[in-house]
Order: sequence, then structure tokens, then C-alpha cells
Amino acid sequence: MSSVVVVGTQWGDEGKGKITNALSSDADLVVRFQGGANAGHTVSVDGTPIVFHLLPSGISVPGVRNIIGPGVVIDPIALDVEIAEVIDRGIEIGENLMIDVGAHMVLPYHKALEAAEEKARGNAAIGTTHRGIGPAYADRCARDGIPIGTLAAFDVFRSRFEEIVDRKNEYLVRLYGEEPLDAGEILEQLHPVAERLARHLSDTPETLRAAIRAGRNVLFEGAQGTLLDVAFGTYPYVTSSCTTAAGVAAGTGVPPSLIGEVIGITKAYTTRVGAGPFPTELTDDTAKTIQERGSERGATTGRARRCGWLDIVALKYSIALNGIRRIIVTKLDILDSFETIKVCVAYDIDGSRTDRFPRTVDELRRIRPVYEEIPGWMSDTGEARRESELPAPALAYLKRICELADVDICSVSVGAKGDALVEFTSVF
Ligand code: IMP
Ligand code: MG
Repeated sequence: MSSVVVVGTQWGDEGKGKITNALSSDADLVVRFQGGANAGHTVSVDGTPIVFHLLPSGISVPGVRNIIGPGVVIDPIALDVEIAEVIDRGIEIGENLMIDVGAHMVLPYHKALEAAEEKARGNAAIGTTHRGIGPAYADRCARDGIPIGTLAAFDVFRSRFEEIVDRKNEYLVRLYGEEPLDAGEILEQLHPVAERLARHLSDTPETLRAAIRAGRNVLFEGAQGTLLDVAFGTYPYVTSSCTTAAGVAAGTGVPPSLIGEVIGITKAYTTRVGAGPFPTELTDDTAKTIQERGSERGATTGRARRCGWLDIVALKYSIALNGIRRIIVTKLDILDSFETIKVCVAYDIDGSRTDRFPRTVDELRRIRPVYEEIPGWMSDTGEARRESELPAPALAYLKRICELADVDICSVSVGAKGDALVEFTSVF
């Protein structure tokens, strides 16, 4: 099968951007199917890092076509800025970018409402990225959303926008005591943006289905991670989209029968940004070391990421949900300095041991991880490019992950640079 889905098996930031970018050289099409500008996919282009939020990570690879699918929520202003920045970096954006007409827009009132809602939540705040993602998806379900294809006829967009913005201002002013938004100002800002984005607007599902049927290599690039999935993640501390492989069909118009292998991207340890349960979280010097060595800071918000050991219970849960048979392990090199490495092999909940990932936040909070200790390798793995160049304890660590999670590893990332990969088996 020529279509491959790349999903994060943790809480996002597993390094999907780098992997997608690396795999893009073998892909004809790279497709985002969910999420929005909350994503921060860091990719190294000519040795300098660049962060993609809405653009698929194949955009910097010549000859690859990129699709922002109908399941994505697009902030047109943010996308316009991102395109300009990427062009500034010498990357061409023309026919290689298609934006599906059905993708809904994130508009300024979504961001304003999210800020007001998060403030109102107080201690129960989700710790969102403030990119308007939740309110935009909520509007889509509530039939108050505006698909981006509407921008092609600006008058049609204007009347729809004016009809909605007044109601949003009522919420802002009367419920949250915030300032109303100036509809005229927003329309003025959006008009030139609409003109620039119009050339990329496209009806993409048939293009995609035809490409897969013709045997082209198609890469579906997941954003966020499985444990942030709106239905199966650590609700309510989740994002508002379907982040699992199941989101591909709903977010692209490609039927499940045309979706091929699902590859999980798994960081060699765990991180999480924002609030919510995190069973293997560390708060000691080890966390600090991981945070510093791994530059664990949100690519979108700049917040320090919470850090902890690898959680096999959570990994198995993600593997089951996504139908993963092979994973790519990332950031192995960050563990180079540890004498021992811990892996969570089970949970202790109120004195009983389980390998089931709990479905309620209350249970998730009561977890005490059961750890297995594995010897570290205390040497540099950053230059390794072949399996034989990895130290024996590092290989043993990887092998143990495979045994515990009943999965195979297709490659291991050992650095930020695009070529810092040890390939075991090829993806396509
Ligand atoms: P939202 O997606 O901005 O609504 O944020 C909801 C939760 O998902 C928060 O905990 C965010 O920190 C987290 N989140 C959203 N996008 C990402 C991402 O790309 N990487 C990691 N965490 C994310
Ligand atoms: Mg990220």
C-alpha cells in the first residue's frame, strides 16, 4: 500500500515534523488531516531549523505536493504569515500547496473566545495554545463555522461573517466582559489575505484518492498526539480534533480502505505541554536534564515542556488505537548521559497493578507508575547512522521497548538534523 500515516503515540512533540520531512523525499504528496496552527513541526532546512504550524512538513522538499485537508482548521491570517516567512527562507510555494475548500477557518473571534474561556476556567484551564482551535471545531459542529472555500467569493464570506460576528461579540462582551471585535477591521485585514490564498484553494479528496489508486506515495502527517485525541485522549485535557489514524478518513475524504500502514512516532522518553495527567512525569534533576538536553520547549508557545520517562502502558494504548505495527523512535540521543533509564511497564492504581490505560481523568490522576530500570549507555549516539554504530545498551533499550509494546522499530532518530537517522527497515 502506498499510503502511510504518521501519528504521534504520546502527547505530541514526538518529532513528527522531522520524520515527515525526512520521509517526504520518497513521497509524492504530504497531507495534514487535523489540527491547525496549534501544531509546531520543527524541521531542519539547510541546517537551520524552521517551524511549520499549518504547512505540511513536505513543503520544503522540491517536487512534493502538499495538501491541507478538510479536517484541518485554518487561521487564514496565520497561514498567510507562515507562507510569507517560508518564501523568505527561499522555499517556493505555488502549485505545491493545495488548501481544501472544505477546511474550516479559525477567525479572530475564535482566538478571543478561547482566551476568555481559558481565563474563566481558572485552575481548571486546559493550557491550550490559544490558536482558536477548540472554538473553531466547536463552531463547525454547531453549524456556525465558515469553510475556507468561502473566501473565493469575498462578498459571500462577508455576509456570512457579519451574520456570525455580532453573536460572537455578544458572548465576548456580555458573558466574559471583554471588548468587542471590530468586524470592519477584520474584514479589511482578511481581504488581501483571501486574494493571496485563493490560488491554493482546491477540491482535494479526488486528487488524493486518484493518487493513491495510481500507486503514488502519500504521507498523512498527524499533528499533536494520540493522547491528545478528543475522544480517546486524557479528556478534557486534550485538543479538539481526532489525532489518531481514524482522523485520516474523516479529515481528507480518503476512505479507510485506501489507508495503508500507520507508523507511530515515539519519543524515547515522554513530554507534555499544557495541563492534565502525565503518569511518568518527573520533577527532579532528571527532568531538568531531559528538558535542557532535549530543548523541550513548545515550538508554538515557547512553554517549557513537562518531561518524564517512556510510558509503555500509554504506548500500547496508542498502538492499539492506531493499528500500529512499526514505530520510529525519536530523540534517543537525549538519553545519552544517563547511567540508568526507567521505563514504565505497568500502573498501580489504588494498590492494584494494571496495564490498562484508564479512560477517566480521575483514575489517570491516581496512577503510580511501576518502573523497570534499564542500563544507560553513557556515550554519544548522535553520529550513528547504522544499527551497528549504536552502543549495545542503546540497542538493548530499543529491543526492550519492542518486547514490552509488541511492536517493531523501523528507524531511530538521533539528532535534529534531517540525516540523523538510523534506518532499520524502510517506510515505503
Ligand atoms: P489546543 O490544541 O490549543 O486547544 O490545546 C489543547 C492541549 O493540547 C494543550 O495541552 C496544548 O498544550 C496541547 N497541544 C496542542 N497542540 C499541540 C502540539 O502540537 N504539540 C503538543 N501539545 C499540543
Ligand atoms: Mg510540536
